[in-house]
Amino acid sequence: MSSLPPPPDIVRSAYAALVVTSLPEARRFWVDLLGFVVTDEDASSLYLRGYDELTHHNLILRSGPVAAAGALGFRVRSVADLSRAEEFYGALGCRTERVPAGFARGQGETVRAEDPLGFLVEFFAASAHPERLQQRYDLRRGAEVARLDHFNICVPDVPVAYEHYKSLGFGLSETIEDGRTLYAAWMYRKQTVHDVAFTGGAGPRLHHLGFFAHEPHSVLRMCDILGSLSLESCIERGPGRHGVSNAFYVYLRDPDGHRLEVYTSDYYTGDPDHPVLRWSVLDPRRRDFWGNAVIPSWYSEASAVLDLDGKPRPVIDIAQTAEVTVGADGFTVPAE
Ligand SMILES: [Fe+2]
Repeated sequence: MSSLPPPPDIVRSAYAALVVTSLPEARRFWVDLLGFVVTDEDASSLYLRGYDELTHHNLILRSGPVAAAGALGFRVRSVADLSRAEEFYGALGCRTERVPAGFARGQGETVRAEDPLGFLVEFFAASAHPERLQQRYDLRRGAEVARLDHFNICVPDVPVAYEHYKSLGFGLSETIEDGRTLYAAWMYRKQTVHDVAFTGGAGPRLHHLGFFAHEPHSVLRMCDILGSLSLESCIERGPGRHGVSNAFYVYLRDPDGHRLEVYTSDYYTGDPDHPVLRWSVLDPRRRDFWGNAVIPSWYSEASAVLDLDGKPRPVIDIAQTAEVTVGADGFTVPAE
């Protein structure tokens, strides 16, 4: 791997694109209920962001016949990093393409690549800056989401995913392991717990998009809003406190089943000697600090991902020992 060209200088996870089967239903969920800001739209797409976001979008919802995750978008430091992305993924034998500014509204020239893990990743350096809304408290609704924070992806082989993101210059903040097997890992470029995390399972699939809110009451209020509207089935797991990352969280499912997390209160990881926190796979606090069992669907269900041509990627079954072999955390069976 040492012969690889230098990787692009990734600043952070910045946006994701999701294919949704009904744009009006998706709009009701993401905009009317969750309170995302609409930056831009056309007949088949919505460009959304949180109230703190100073680039054009955190989420692109595109209308399509089959629900899927379209792309994971990373901001890079400079335009020169676009060429580095092409060279890096090209050297890995991955298909890439370079698309002009405006391929996504409000976004500069972009390099797209099918990464070695099977995900479609996009790199951009330039973005339009819409109106700053951080202090428009009068506009805030729903979960008062501030920004996208991370991607959580299902991969059949967590150590392979760890090595790939390590080669991209990501730091490691936390793991779930047992000394022999790495079951899950959280990795970062910006100075938080993660920009990307890996959940062992059939993949490539998108497990969830993580969105940051400033206050625990935003997480609770979102649950109350959904309950009031008899939409409690959208609440999949939580609210609760994670062991890993210390986040106060809730997991929701959108009308197409795409999973998102609204969370608050993780921590700073920017020191160069930031120590890794390693959780035992047998510690029931790792996934929920209060020991609440995880619903099985959280481990088994995820969104299909698309290739450069918009076709679903084939899913490969888990290649390593699963973190949970029966049901969910309340029924954890230790690996032999
Ligand atoms: Fe998450």
